[in-house]
Amino acid sequence: MPYVNEKNLTDVVLARWKDVPDARLKQIMQSLIKHLHGFVRDIEPTEKEWAAAIDFITRLGQKSDEKRQEVILFSDVMGVSMLVDAINHRLDSGATPTTVEGPFHIPNSPVIADGGDMAKGAPGIPCFVSGTVRDLDGRPVAGAKLDLWQTDGDGLYEAQVDATGPWMRGLYRSKPDGSYTIRTVAPIGYTIPMDGPVGELMNKTDISHMRPAHIHFCVESPGHHRLVTHLFQRGCPYIETDVVYGVKEPLIVDFEKKPAGAAPNGEKLDTPYYVIHYDFVLQKQAKAAAA
Ligand code: BEZ
Ligand code: FE
Repeated sequence: MPYVNEKNLTDVVLARWKDVPDARLKQIMQSLIKHLHGFVRDIEPTEKEWAAAIDFITRLGQKSDEKRQEVILFSDVMGVSMLVDAINHRLDSGATPTTVEGPFHIPNSPVIADGGDMAKGAPGIPCFVSGTVRDLDGRPVAGAKLDLWQTDGDGLYEAQVDATGPWMRGLYRSKPDGSYTIRTVAPIGYTIPMDGPVGELMNKTDISHMRPAHIHFCVESPGHHRLVTHLFQRGCPYIETDVVYGVKEPLIVDFEKKPAGAAPNGEKLDTPYYVIHYDFVLQKQAKAAAA
């Protein structure tokens, strides 16, 4: 083995890391070493800067627990979560596109009947989301599970309020004709958590730390691609600058304001409310992927 110098160090390390029996792990480690060394050669950090980088990564882990995931948040603001999502969900044109799940999904939400209210007294403007779940051939998908979660009208998720039970989330099913109706309140744009190392980093930039108003959906039906996505409010000021790069054009929807009166679920409302229409299009799962 040649002794190392600045010029040959990357090649020496790559040669050592050829001794990895698992072919995929070997490929990953070879690429990681190339890119890490390339990064360091590019920026030529001082030792103080490298210590700061190590401190930053250490604090990403220290800030994370079962309710808070600062490492994922870092991946989100670097656009890496959306890149991994794009690589793993290359859907046909016409299928509803995916976007990041984010950290606020809570499993086992309450089952709610079609047209039922998942906001249950939460602050915000009443909002009805309805449409259909279909496949790429336009056939209705009956019994699809629609798992929703979102902020209330103050911009807060369940993990951020002192709720005694489920807050702003619910499980619905599409009807035999593929249709669904959800009663909720309109979400608003909100900031990502800024009290950790990611916030500290964002505060050293002029980059917006806001997410545009959106409702999260996970739509599932046997034999179809599992769709994790959001619907975003058209016209929301943060739509062009989403801090996690989650916005895709087909996911931007109108929040149509309606006057007080009879709502789509038959309820009589004495305040104005929003109506959103959206038809989800699920792609059939490839045979190999389904097996
Ligand atoms: C969210 O939409 O809930 C979210 C996604 C990524 C980072 C922070 C929040
Ligand atoms: Fe969200």
